[in-house]
Amino acid sequence: MSKLPEMLTIGQVAERSGVPHTALRFYEERGLIASERTAGNQRRYPRHVLRRLAFIRTAQRVGLSLEDVHAALATLPDNRTPTKADWSRLSQSWQAELDARIDALHRLRDRLTSCIGCGCLSLRSCLLHNLDDQQAADGPGAPKLKPAVEGGT
Ligand code: FES
Repeated sequence: MSKLPEMLTIGQVAERSGVPHTALRFYEERGLIASERTAGNQRRYPRHVLRRLAFIRTAQRVGLSLEDVHAALATLPDNRTPTKADWSRLSQSWQAELDARIDALHRLRDRLTSCIGCGCLSLRSCLLHNLDDQQAADGPGAPKLKPAVEGGT
């Protein structure tokens, strides 16, 4: 197996990482990865971008947003590629958020049982459609419509 060059074309990065060209350009636009340009304005990525991409894809796979990933990468000195220790530290910091998401999904699943085969999507009785009864604090009826109705507009 031949050794990878220090700088990689977008095609080489796509092939090695399994990340499509379009996603690579998107990540670059979002500041998640960086490239240099050749005299002919072609992208060249440093070889360590492959580890950074593995970090990004793994974080996404566990449900983290690109904003979460960007924030995590921004904590690294000189925007360096995450090390094993970085991954360990950052993944621990995400555990509480992931636990909260899992709990929320469990609650949704439990509420779904009453909706199966129903289809009413009632604001009054459907626990999924009106999750946590979001307008309850504003009183009965349709509080968002009250100013328009009362003001005659
Ligand atoms: S759809 Fe009828 S209770 Fe949820």
